[in-house]
Amino acid sequence: MHSLRDLHKSFGSREVLRGSSLEVPEGETVARIGYAGTGKSVAIKHSLDRPALFRLRKRIGSVSQCAARFDSLTVGDNVATGLRRQEGLTAREIGARVREVLALVDLPGAADAMPSELSGGMHKRVGIARAIALRPKYVLHDEPATGLDPVVRAFIEGCDDLDPGRAA
Ligand SMILES: Nc1ncnc2c1ncn2[C@@H]1O[C@H](COP(=O)(O)OP(=O)(O)OP(=O)(O)O)[C@@H](O)[C@H]1O
Ligand SMILES: [Mg+2]
Repeated sequence: MHSLRDLHKSFGSREVLRGSSLEVPEGETVARIGYAGTGKSVAIKHSLDRPALFRLRKRIGSVSQCAARFDSLTVGDNVATGLRRQEGLTAREIGARVREVLALVDLPGAADAMPSELSGGMHKRVGIARAIALRPKYVLHDEPATGLDPVVRAFIEGCDDLDPGRAA
């Protein structure tokens, strides 16, 4: 179970989150739906200090709304950035993990490509590969459907449709 409890966030006098909570049972997919500007992205990005954030990322991966990437690095290096910060992984293991997660998002062989060579949907999948490279227990997706074709989306998320009854 992943629990987010009683989250508060203000920017100056603007209160964006006022006691926001979310529970995700293990193995389940939960969607939070809301109007633009109501704080969905802020809830996902709500931060800890850097060391605590890095520890948390080993357990919880996240895919941002705008496909985050370093344009001057290859796709493989983009995926490997988090792995290189993790202790105990050899260069060979990192290379194998990068190939493994790129294959999972249906981008086998894309490791040497530059981000500028990719389509919008491919960027999104590189973001997902980055998020799952650390083998987190949970993945938070901001705008999971944006930029992905429905077939890839169903495969990656392991669900064929979004059940409105389960939306939180
Ligand atoms: N760094 C920031 N500084 C100031 N205000 C911010 C900042 N980040 C977000 N906000 C404000 O917080 C509110 C919530 O933003 P957020 O990005 O979480 O919306 P959202 O629910 O994800 O919307 P969308 O569906 O359009 O992605 C908005 O009014 C936004 O302007
Ligand atoms: Mg958003």
